[in-house]
Amino acid sequence: MTDDHRLTDGEEEPGEGEVEGGLRPRRLDEFVGQEHAVRQLETFVAAARGRGEPCDHVLLAGPPGLGKTSLAHIVAVEMGSRIHTISGPALERKGDIASILTALEPRDVLFVDEVHRLPRAIEELLYPAMEDGAIDIVIGQGPGARTLRLDLAPFTLVGATTRAGLLTTPMRDRFGISLRLEHYAPDELVLIVRRSAGILEVDLDDEAATEIARRSRGTPRVANRILRRVRDVAQVRGWALVDRGGALEALDLLGVDEDGLDRADREYLRAVAERFGGGPVGLNTLAVALGEDAGTLEEVYEPYLIQQGLIQRTARGRVLTERGRALTGMPADPGLPSLLD
Ligand SMILES: Nc1ncnc2c1ncn2[C@@H]1O[C@H](COP(=O)(O)OP(=O)(O)O)[C@@H](O)[C@H]1O
Ligand SMILES: [Mg+2]
Repeated sequence: MTDDHRLTDGEEEPGEGEVEGGLRPRRLDEFVGQEHAVRQLETFVAAARGRGEPCDHVLLAGPPGLGKTSLAHIVAVEMGSRIHTISGPALERKGDIASILTALEPRDVLFVDEVHRLPRAIEELLYPAMEDGAIDIVIGQGPGARTLRLDLAPFTLVGATTRAGLLTTPMRDRFGISLRLEHYAPDELVLIVRRSAGILEVDLDDEAATEIARRSRGTPRVANRILRRVRDVAQVRGWALVDRGGALEALDLLGVDEDGLDRADREYLRAVAERFGGGPVGLNTLAVALGEDAGTLEEVYEPYLIQQGLIQRTARGRVLTERGRALTGMPADPGLPSLLD
């Protein structure tokens, strides 16, 4: 149920990488929102820099498009360090990670995207690297095999994950700093839309910026994607300034509705409403009904629906809230607690 304008990490649309690269905040003070995470990073990075040490290992968790990759780069920039990027599922052989680790220079940042998808053997090689700054390499085979310990330059591992729940405990325990990114508030998204519009050279009025922000699903990547389509529409129509009507036209073209829900969100809500009478429905049952992995529902799709007050997680399963019922055209349930209470 992946939707066009909500791709998961690593599934950027062609050409998007470059454009997105240009829109990426470079420094902590350009990074909008996530105050809790930003404040912590500011402090810990400054302290490490003051001591001339690498920053402690950082885990960044949260749904796609909220700024994990951006923050990983920012940590390197703020430390004045180089960054090396690897992706969990792309690493297969121990030799690959060993050569990356031994090539690190002091205070370098090693960014491991999708850290929950590292093969087990590679994860195990990383434990002593993260904890003791060394790796153990086995040389030879059989009775003549020897273990060689290689010391590494002190480095910072920044791990990003959309599925924190899949991280093994030993891995999670090795991150000294663990930050969870949340969906952005509408006013924060307005700032992000304005900043990106400046970089992309699209003139938006306030109402247009607000409209795009409101329908971006709390996600900067979605806001930027909508903005690029708005720019296309403006260019083709020859508009010098995009107003609310212009923004609405582009949003319509993209199939983004009033509530900023995308097709996947609507499918989720419709399934709970129509197939399970508004719930409660167990996560696994719902996952089967939607043909989606339960963990992905839980960590990628649901956080926004919960934040929007459309669903609730209860001990008996997922239920639509009053708002969720109204949105899917279900009659109100007198037994449901009102969110306004
Ligand atoms: N806090 C932010 N302020 C401004 N732009 C942001 C912010 N977070 C994310 N973005 C934008 O959203 C895009 C996606 O962010 P990214 O770091 O790739 O997310 P993730 O790695 O979590 O999927 C970036 O290219 C950037 O332009
Ligand atoms: Mg990313």
